[in-house]
Amino acid sequence: MAFLSFICGSSSDVREPGRRISSSWRFFSLKELHAATNNFNYDNKLGEGGFGSVYWGQLWDGSQIAVKRLKVWSNKAELEFSAEVEILGRVRHKNLLSLRGYCAEGHERLIVYDYMPNLSLMSHLHGEQAADRLLDWNRRMNIAIGSAEGIAYLHHHATPHIIHRDIKASNVLLDSDFQARVSDFGFAKLIPEGATHVTTRVKGTLGYLAPEYALFGKASESCDVYSLGVLLLELACGRKPLEKLSPTLRRSISEWALPLARERRFDEMADPKLDGKFVYVELKRMVLVALVCARGTPEKRPTMLEVVEWLKGDATEKLAALENDAFFRSDRFDNSSRFIVPDNCSDCVTEEKE
Ligand SMILES: Nc1ncnc2c1ncn2[C@@H]1O[C@H](COP(=O)(O)OP(=O)(O)OP(=O)(O)O)[C@@H](O)[C@H]1O
Ligand SMILES: [Mg+2]
Repeated sequence: MAFLSFICGSSSDVREPGRRISSSWRFFSLKELHAATNNFNYDNKLGEGGFGSVYWGQLWDGSQIAVKRLKVWSNKAELEFSAEVEILGRVRHKNLLSLRGYCAEGHERLIVYDYMPNLSLMSHLHGEQAADRLLDWNRRMNIAIGSAEGIAYLHHHATPHIIHRDIKASNVLLDSDFQARVSDFGFAKLIPEGATHVTTRVKGTLGYLAPEYALFGKASESCDVYSLGVLLLELACGRKPLEKLSPTLRRSISEWALPLARERRFDEMADPKLDGKFVYVELKRMVLVALVCARGTPEKRPTMLEVVEWLKGDATEKLAALENDAFFRSDRFDNSSRFIVPDNCSDCVTEEKE
């Protein structure tokens, strides 16, 4: 396996702008992971995704881990496993989930991560944690900026550049301080130097797919920008990326949000779970940035570095220009944010659980 030679027992330092962080990972034996997770006990299970189940565990030194265990071995799964381990082994950033190591014994494939005590953004927005209302406005703003910073690192600082291809609420995990950690690099692609995009089979999750990627398999950084736009709308408004209007009709969150934003009805767009407690200018900023990210035309989307700058409020003039852009004029008809479901990729595009 190619990744084994890359990663084998290594430990290195990865450069991050302004900071040097030691990146280390190691092999885990199956025996050690059985002991850490109480034999993959059902009570330890944190969740389940396309790759397999994720279990909470504790190592002999007391540290807490999350172990993702491959469901069924196949060549495709092996590729996903290698991609995730290889890419995670290359990157280290405060907003990316760190790899602790992995285990490959027989057909068993397991990936070991730091445990994130506040689970996923998805569980707080639409799942088990939603009723606790732990995501106040300040936390949401930090999660938005942190997620964008993590992805900007992948797009602009990692060598070669990396596109994630599966940015969504269940892949943004939250640490003990509710800081965002972008996870799940199983679908990620390395972009060769000089290339503007790579053409691939479509993978990802319905509701988050950029149209040019869903239709033509054209994957570029801009597809992640689109997905982040959907995620930012979810974070601000508390709605799901796709809403079922009837058994055959679905509306995307941007189709719902754009007319309201054009009429400047930002107050009505805030997640009702916030109980009206939010900073109006920040909410407006998040919604405007989100909608520009989720534009149908990739050339009209910002880069992830611009997204970070705009979300932080560091670019007041650019933001004012954005608000006055024709795209946000209320008299404009535009169907560029219409959601398109491709029919030829159902085997690799997953749908969010209801
Ligand atoms: N490091 C972690 N710490 C805490 N919980 C985690 C960790 N990794 C995953 N989880 C939990 O396990 C769940 C399942 O994760 P997984 O990535 O396998 O599936 P998913 O994100 O729901 O779907 P997909 O397979 O499309 O990525 C997550 O939603 C999250 O709640
Ligand atoms: Mg995931």
